[in-house]
Amino acid sequence: MSELSVNHLLGIKYLKKEDIKLIFETADHFKEVINRPIKKVPSLRDITIANLFFENSTRTKLSFELAQKRLSADVINFSSAQSSVKKGETLIDTVNNILSMKVDMVVMRHPNPGAGVFLSKHVNARIVNAGDGAHEHPTQALLDSYSIREKHGEVKGKKVVIVGDILHSRVALSNIFALQLQGAEVMVCGPKTLIPKYINKLGVKVETNLRKALNWCDVANMLRVQNERMDISYFPSTREYTQQFGVTKDLLNSLDKKITIMHPGPINRGVEITSDVADSDQSIILDQVENGVAVRMAVIYLLASKIKQ
Ligand code: CP
Repeated sequence: MSELSVNHLLGIKYLKKEDIKLIFETADHFKEVINRPIKKVPSLRDITIANLFFENSTRTKLSFELAQKRLSADVINFSSAQSSVKKGETLIDTVNNILSMKVDMVVMRHPNPGAGVFLSKHVNARIVNAGDGAHEHPTQALLDSYSIREKHGEVKGKKVVIVGDILHSRVALSNIFALQLQGAEVMVCGPKTLIPKYINKLGVKVETNLRKALNWCDVANMLRVQNERMDISYFPSTREYTQQFGVTKDLLNSLDKKITIMHPGPINRGVEITSDVADSDQSIILDQVENGVAVRMAVIYLLASKIKQ
């Protein structure tokens, strides 16, 4: 396979196994590029990309922008907080005005699930979903799987537990789709109130005992509790959540095997993991961030190749 089967990256659920393989092989090349003294290639000199962020972001926004600049694309950045969205402008009007400036690709983070799919039906540009509400965060799942492949050789056959606030997490859903597509076994672990009822339909294991989950897995992907998406209390207190679902160094050292710790960020140190776990040699959290640039370069490059045809 030499090109993606899709024209947009809206979610992992739209991808085939071969798409992920192609993205990873392309990212391998770009990872080598970004570790050279001159970290830039001229591949996308004729492409203009708009990064539209209607929700806060640190890693994803900077990672996309760096990936685009490493590929020599022209880049414009939009943040809804400082924009005319505050004056009542709609999403379609906002995007069409930006596209009038001859933009080829839009990377968008939006609080509403399905915002990327909606946009792809109404505007003439390639769309990359950089996180849509609690729905999908496809490039995060791709960089997570890429980091597992780098650490463990392959994703197929690995046991991965996703721990924490599964209910509000786009990272969890995209990771479940990506890991299963590549033949990994997936478990979710957290308080019953933060595990969605539809989870059984996704073919994942469910465990509410963190020690059992960690003893089962090769990799634990720790999620943040997304208080900003909660309108009610899902557990009695943060202290109690941490006692039951937080990973400490003592817990890690008491397991039967040495597991890998991941986290998409932002971390709440001392809540879902302690600092000595986040900074330990079992953590690949900063490798995930580094790999994010290479994986996003691959996604943008492969989608842009389809514009040029
Ligand atoms: N992992 C992630 O999406 O982080 P940001 O919200 O900082 O982009």
